[in-house]
Amino acid sequence: MYSDKVMDHFTNPRNVGEIENADAVGQVGNVKCGDIMKMYLKIDNEVIVDVKFKTFGCGSAIATSSMATEMIKGKTVKEALNLSNRAVAEALDGLPPVKMHCSVLAEQAVKSAIYDYAQKNNLHYEELDGYNPNEEDDHHDHGVEEED
Ligand code: FES
Repeated sequence: MYSDKVMDHFTNPRNVGEIENADAVGQVGNVKCGDIMKMYLKIDNEVIVDVKFKTFGCGSAIATSSMATEMIKGKTVKEALNLSNRAVAEALDGLPPVKMHCSVLAEQAVKSAIYDYAQKNNLHYEELDGYNPNEEDDHHDHGVEEED
């Protein structure tokens, strides 16, 4: 049911933990299951130089957070904002349809952290236009089918 990559990132997640004096911190919850993810970013000159996360959630949430942190490390803030949950799931060779909603948590955690960064530094990213960190985003169409 799960790909080798999902199992790998679930049993051996990358970048777990927290960053002291992080430049950005985001926390999101999944309304469907109550799982929570917290993400910390260190940003230098618009580049994400370090990232750590903590997930109190299911295996798919842990695997997608792990993969998402790997995918945004070394990238610019703008590139990270364009990371979709679908891209993360694809990088993991797919998730079962009923677990796709778990991957949204990682995408939202990245956005939430960067929103925090933008707020603190008075920056504007058009990718965040219309983004509301207090709005639980779980029912939008992320281009993948959910079966539940
Ligand atoms: S079941 Fe909650 S994020 Fe997967």
